[in-house]
Amino acid sequence: MGQTLLITGATGLVGKALVKKCLAHGDTVHYLTTRKSKIKSEANYKGFYWNPQKNTIDTACFDGVEVVINLAGSSIAQRWTKAAKASILSSRTNALELIHSSIETHKFPIQQIISASAIGIYPDSKTRYYEEEFQGTDASFLRTVVKSWEGRLKPFQSLGIKTTAVRIGIVLDAKEGALPKIMGPIKQYIGSALGTGEHWQSWIHIDDLVRLFRFVLESKLEGVYNAVAPNPVQQKDLVKSIAKIIKRPLFFPKVPEFALQMLLGEMSAIALESQRVCSKKIEDAGFQYQYHELDVALENLL
Ligand SMILES: NC(=O)c1ccc[n+]([C@@H]2O[C@H](COP(=O)([O-])OP(=O)(O)OC[C@H]3O[C@@H](n4cnc5c(N)ncnc54)[C@H](OP(=O)(O)O)[C@@H]3O)[C@@H](O)[C@H]2O)c1
Repeated sequence: MGQTLLITGATGLVGKALVKKCLAHGDTVHYLTTRKSKIKSEANYKGFYWNPQKNTIDTACFDGVEVVINLAGSSIAQRWTKAAKASILSSRTNALELIHSSIETHKFPIQQIISASAIGIYPDSKTRYYEEEFQGTDASFLRTVVKSWEGRLKPFQSLGIKTTAVRIGIVLDAKEGALPKIMGPIKQYIGSALGTGEHWQSWIHIDDLVRLFRFVLESKLEGVYNAVAPNPVQQKDLVKSIAKIIKRPLFFPKVPEFALQMLLGEMSAIALESQRVCSKKIEDAGFQYQYHELDVALENLL
């Protein structure tokens, strides 16, 4: 028999795909949204309003819920102005704080919270191969955000709630997220690698990510898990693979790093940072990826 799940960020790229899968499993999904226009009230799919910035939440969303899946957060793919940076950080930390204080105040019997996190927690490196135990960090904006985000899971443990952080890599989806953005210029015959093109990109097919969240849920896994395919690639190879599959030549020289930095400012980190991340821990726990190799994932998506 299905269970009732509370999902935040359910209207986003990952959330929509996860909701579909959970409904197909026979679960009931309650979701929190900051947009009143997105609230639906169907038998097994019910929306509730919240606004973590204003500390507002409709606590009816917790009725019958044992597991919370937290995907909420304002997009990092926007120009990193001072206001945007504040919103990227606080949308994540306030969301977890509000869920925590609601559970604590009303003593809702939540057993587990599974939260999105990101591989941006690992410092930029072309040589390291990151496992979950890695402890190093730096003062960059991305590291600060993800550390604070994961840090907000700890107080749930004091309430006896299991916590899981899923450090998501670059999600590949045909319609939304990174792939259409990278593919756009290639389609228009103006594609090329970014920077040296030698930086590592740890990607994951959207279907595998959704299956991984289900796996964590069903196996009640606790702790921190990387959610990346077993074979990360260098950025130049990602661009080459896309060009090959959509049958476009790559004429242009690589876009120099300084040009991207001038164009995008500090957020060029998203395009230029290197994180080669290991998938072994979740595989050792029994998870089987469907898409190990980039070419197979891209063939499927494109
Ligand atoms: N996609 C990736 O490649 C990737 C990689 C690493 C980590 N992640 C993380 O995984 C999570 C899900 O990713 P995604 O790609 O599905 O993100 P997404 O498409 O941007 O969706 C995120 C959702 O968060 C909610 N949201 C936006 N601003 C908010 C705010 N200020 N306060 C509260 N909620 C807000 C929105 O839902 P409502 O409008 O309904 O409120 C939105 O649908 C995010 O936290 C993201 O950082 C994603």
